Amino acid sequence: MKHTDNGETPSGRTPLGRLIEKRLSRRAVLRGGTAVSITALALTPAACFRADGGLRFRELAHGSTADHAVADGYDANVLIRWGDPVVPGAPKFEPNNVTGEAQSQQFGMNNDFIAFMPLPRGSNNSAHGLLCVNHEFCVATQMFPDASMATALKVMTAERGRAELASLGHSVIEIKKTDGQWTTVDGSSYNRRITALATEMEVTGPAAGHERMKTSADDTGRRVIGTLFNCAGGKTPWHTVLTAEENVHFSFSGTPNDAREAANHRSMGFTGPGRYPWRAAADPRFDLSKEPREPNRFGWIVELDPYDPNSVPKKRTALGRFRHEGAGCALSHDGRVVVYQGDDARFECIYRYVSDDAYDPDNPEANRDLLDKGTLSVGRFEEDGTLVWIPLVHGTGPLTAANGFDSQADVLIETRRAARFLGGTPMDRPEDVDVNPITGTVFAMLTNNTEREADETGASNPRGPNPFGHVIEFTPPVASNGQRDHAAETYTWDIFLQAGNPAEAEHSAVYHEDTSEHGWFGAPDNCAFDPKGRLWIATDGAPDGINDGVWACQVDGSERALTKHFYRVPHGAELCGPEFTPDGETLFVAVQHPGLDGPNSLFDNPSTRWPDFKEDMPPRSAVVAITKRGGGEIGS
Ligand code: FEO
Ligand code: CA
Ligand code: CA
Repeated sequence: MKHTDNGETPSGRTPLGRLIEKRLSRRAVLRGGTAVSITALALTPAACFRADGGLRFRELAHGSTADHAVADGYDANVLIRWGDPVVPGAPKFEPNNVTGEAQSQQFGMNNDFIAFMPLPRGSNNSAHGLLCVNHEFCVATQMFPDASMATALKVMTAERGRAELASLGHSVIEIKKTDGQWTTVDGSSYNRRITALATEMEVTGPAAGHERMKTSADDTGRRVIGTLFNCAGGKTPWHTVLTAEENVHFSFSGTPNDAREAANHRSMGFTGPGRYPWRAAADPRFDLSKEPREPNRFGWIVELDPYDPNSVPKKRTALGRFRHEGAGCALSHDGRVVVYQGDDARFECIYRYVSDDAYDPDNPEANRDLLDKGTLSVGRFEEDGTLVWIPLVHGTGPLTAANGFDSQADVLIETRRAARFLGGTPMDRPEDVDVNPITGTVFAMLTNNTEREADETGASNPRGPNPFGHVIEFTPPVASNGQRDHAAETYTWDIFLQAGNPAEAEHSAVYHEDTSEHGWFGAPDNCAFDPKGRLWIATDGAPDGINDGVWACQVDGSERALTKHFYRVPHGAELCGPEFTPDGETLFVAVQHPGLDGPNSLFDNPSTRWPDFKEDMPPRSAVVAITKRGGGEIGS
């Protein structure tokens, strides 16, 4: 979601205290362009975990254009866009007639996370698979010709609210690459729309069935219709997709007649009338005065099986409830499953879930509930470069009835409050937190935080204010079997880079010293690793004069943090969902909210009509497939 629309919730920032020591020596290393971080050298046999491999593409220039652009020698082709048919028999997109019925069958709005799931399941096929795509939010001014900020309250009807709810959620589409060109497989029986309007989901894990999860429509506390504000996500080792519910508070309006839930909702960012008050007319469960507990059924990680179009998605409550950005999965040294998660708001935390049981590749049934039984922890970034994971377990420390936590369900429903009691570090909007497949280290994108004061800075969030964001790398220890221990209580961490323009001293940007005038960026949001372990960063909130896009760099070697510009989006868009095929020869990206360029960029005169560039078509969010002309690995 557009950065200015987000992160507005200082939901109880924990005082950090004065900075004791800024660990300048670590960052001085990076500034000097020295090869490997001190942390990695100290802890790992570097030969085992190094991700080397030069990035060989001619860097794209910064730009601000109505069209998208990619580095020389690459092709960027639109694969599917908002309104295109998904399920068999879906109607054609009619921009002046966007309805709930049509949207329920078409590709939803504002694509975000992308997972490429090869066919057959579990294979490394890089030419045929399922593309699983989140649809995060709606732009009424692009959906409905007469909607503007000024008119929205008058023109938005219950039926339009239903159209919005149908456009949210997730799409599964079968795709194929033939002669180097990706196309959708129209009418595929895999194709599916999951919506906020109608898709039934199951609640699982410790909060399932709890009183605070029950509503007048569901007295079991285990069945929920829909998923909301699906931002980034992840893929499990057993080939399912995790989709993250982020800014769910925007869907609700009204005042709850329940003091406990009112306080709970405030901590998730609920304020005043809500952003889409007409949704309460479309479905009364979005009216807090009628259903004060309905919000407790959103803000989770949802697991879905794209290979079974009839499967019921599951809201996995053991992973906590907050404004989830993504869900980066890893297998630890002993086979336990680990999910790294960011809570995208200012002064919110980074979390880690570790399953109780190990993943069994030979017994798919045994893996079905690995995300229901495990330990959720919050990260505390110490000034000395230690990262401590603190478990959120009911009955331990302050997580007791004396503080309003009567059960583990309470701890999970109010994850943010529990994390603050435990001293989790309030970060600068943690978005994607993903694991490098080669180094086994973990990278967290911290988008920005314009509200951090200078006296609230610390080593892990060193700038106040922080308008450009930064990237942190954290390093799990190596277990006796030579593999990363992603379940360890302590890791080390280091700043990987600080975004902004290195030519402007006041930005205090930190990259590799050879970063070019086009290699810098602002607001790192999503990320992906290619098969060589190189980092590809997607941005949401480029500084004035340049559009968002993708920048790539190595994470090891002499070009660590030497970021290079590879792709840029059209006016008004952010870039989401970078995802490689297993062979590294295709990079899928999600161009979200093109043309969303302030109050004057409306249905009749948007800042761009990308990708159709037709007078009768609004700008449309779309998935783009990027390939190297003539074939070969992206970036090599
Ligand atoms: Fe949906 Fe945090 O971006
Ligand atoms: Ca975003
Ligand atoms: Ca995001």
